[in-house]
This record gives sequence, C-alpha cells and structure tokens, in this order.
Amino acid sequence: MKLRIEKERLAQELDQLGAISSEPPPVVTRIVFTEADLRARLFVKELCSEAGLNIREDAVGNTFARWIGSEPQLAAVGTGSHIDAIPNAGRFDGTVGVLGGLEAIRALQRSGFHPRRSIELLIFTSEEPTRFGLGCLGSRLLAGTMRTPLTDSDGLSLDQVRHNAGFTGELASVPLARDYYSAFIELHIEQGPLLEREAIDVGIVTAIAAPATLRIEIEGEGGHAGAVLMPGRRDAFLAAAEIALAVEAAANASGAIDTVATTGVCDIFPRAVNSIPSRARMEIDVRDIDGARRDATLKLIKDAAREAAARRGVTVKQELLNADLPGACAPAVIAALEQACIAHGATHRLMISRAYHDSLFMSQIVPTAMLFIPCRGGVSHRPDEYSSPEAIARGALILAEALSQLSS
Ligand code: HGY
Ligand code: MN
Ligand code: MN
Repeated sequence: MKLRIEKERLAQELDQLGAISSEPPPVVTRIVFTEADLRARLFVKELCSEAGLNIREDAVGNTFARWIGSEPQLAAVGTGSHIDAIPNAGRFDGTVGVLGGLEAIRALQRSGFHPRRSIELLIFTSEEPTRFGLGCLGSRLLAGTMRTPLTDSDGLSLDQVRHNAGFTGELASVPLARDYYSAFIELHIEQGPLLEREAIDVGIVTAIAAPATLRIEIEGEGGHAGAVLMPGRRDAFLAAAEIALAVEAAANASGAIDTVATTGVCDIFPRAVNSIPSRARMEIDVRDIDGARRDATLKLIKDAAREAAARRGVTVKQELLNADLPGACAPAVIAALEQACIAHGATHRLMISRAYHDSLFMSQIVPTAMLFIPCRGGVSHRPDEYSSPEAIARGALILAEALSQLSS
C-alpha cells in the first residue's frame, strides 16, 4: 500500500510533547496525574480530535481514540503506548508509540484506506512506576489483573489522585472484554543497543521480560554520629548497603545474561550528616525473560536481607509489590509485522524486550506484538534519549501497514 508518513510533522509533535514537562528542556519529567501529565493528555487529545477520532477516557484515565471502521461491531485493532515519563527522562519513551500510532492512522486516512475493523489509539495511564510504585497501572486494570489499593509517596490513594484529576467512576469498569480488540501493536524505542549495533531498521518483539518489584523497609537505631561508638551500632543504611550488594550478586549468580536486578530507590532517615541512619527504604527491580529464574533471584535477595538484618540487629519488612509473568507475543501479529517490513523493504529481526511495557498486560487479553525502532546508543530514561525522525517515521510506516492488514 502506498503510504506517506509526514516525518517533519511527527518530529515536531514529539518535540512539542517533549516540551510539556515539569522540568525545563531537554529534561522530560511527566509523572502521572501531575499538571504536566494533564497538559500532555490535552495536547494529544486535540491532535486525535483533529484527525476525526472518537475519544473516550475510562475511570483511571486510559484514553481511547477510535477511527470507526465499516463494520464497527467487530473487535477493533488497537495500537498505542504511554506519555507519562519518569524523572529526568527523555522525549521518546512511550510517546513514539502514541504520536507514531496517530500518524500511522493519519497516513492510512490520507491514502484513502477504509478499515473494516475500527482502529483505536490507546494512551495508557501510568506506565511508569514512579508515583504508585507499580508500573503499567492502566494496562493492569484493562487486563483485569490489578492488585490491592495503591498510595503515592505523599500517602494519597490512587482514587484520591485520579478523582482530583477528573477521572471518576468505578475502577471495576476499566477491564476490557476479551473480544474488545482482535489484535494490539505497540510501537516503541528499543531502549537497548541491539538494532543500532546491527544496523537493523526495526525489531519485532516475540517476548517481554517479567518484572518484579520488592520494597524493603529497614529499622535500626539512630543516634549522634559523634557520641555513639562503632561497636553495637545498628545502622539501617549499612544494612541497606549490604542488601544492595546482595541484589547485584544474586543477579550475577543466576547463570543467565537475561537476569537483571537494580536497587533504584534507597532513602535513608533522618538523612543528616551527623546522625546515624535509623531507617532505610529500598525499592528493588528484578527481571528476567524466565519467570522461574527471576523468582529464584528474588528468593536469594530476600534471604540475604533477612541474614543481613539478623547480623546487624536491624529489622526488615519486605513487600513484593509485583511479580509479573513474562509476556508472549502472538505469532499472527508478529507475522503481520514481518509482512509489513517486507512490503516496505525494512530490515528486521525478532528480539525480546528487556524493558517492560503495557503490551506485557495487553498480551494477557489480546493477541499482541511490539515494534521496536533503534535509539542512539541504546540510551533511555535519560534526557539524551534519541531516535531519528527517519527511524520514527519508518516505525510509523510499518505500523500503518500492519494496522491496514489487521483491520481489513
Ligand atoms: O521500566 C521499564 O521497563 C519501563 O520503561 N517502564
Ligand atoms: Mn520507561
Ligand atoms: Mn516505555
């Protein structure tokens, strides 16, 4: 199919969205339900309205922009990603799948194509774990796999925060029926170095690594840094330091390169140079493409935390926030992406996703696959995250072709 992607317009829209941030450019910080997130949602919804899409939002702020097909009663074909961003992030993580998805739809409209199945752009709420400690909040709810109520670091509940942002209604209304979509594709930057290193145009994702998040609260004994002698101290931070090294050792001990573990959060209290830390709070991210191996790594970390606590006379409270299953992508959707690449002469390879995405949860309720484009140096979750207008436009083109196949 003859399709034209408006590369410059798409690049400009990504820059405009990137400038909607609670930090000055080039830094993008867009935490869910903050003022920056709400402004970004408005910006994207305006673009979707201009494209003539029908827009609705659910009780947690997942946003659906639908191009009605000639047989609207059929299950739709979905595409989309997220626009929230962690602190000190870049402007392409998630947004390429949202604005690239919109441009794919516009390109199909311009070509005179008319879908039989509706095609729907989906902007997920809160893909990043920053505010509520759990990633993929919106897609978990859509997949019906949500856990107990969540609160943010200020102690506000998800319900309070979403109501304040104007999203009311019961969370029980969010899960999608199993036949809501017939297929789902997420376009995303790779967030890794493979495609650039191998000079391949696009990656077609076959599986998505399974994330787990472990929160550990450590209680020791504070005191005057000068007056309390070393013997007998119960320093909460030093216990945390031992545990952080055990996190690294556990991942390295798994015997597989696919096992990764990171202590991304470590807060100490009272955080005063002349006061012994009495409390520490850690959040640990453990992933693997193999669920059982990931769980074995988690167990090593939990055991090491208990052992460090006993030796140092501190207490640890461990809470597993999530331990998700790996995501398997659907052969039929993978095939549609491969055919789209061949149709447009794009070099491509099958690969796994080490980052998690909303597609991890969408794959539980609908045949799903992901389309990766290269990003410079594999860098992501940093302001210098970059993907070229050419790579982004090519991703949107392949996506448009696959959407036309799946919705015909
Ligand atoms: O952490 C991740 O894998 C995703 O970027 N939220
Ligand atoms: Mn991310
Ligand atoms: Mn992302």
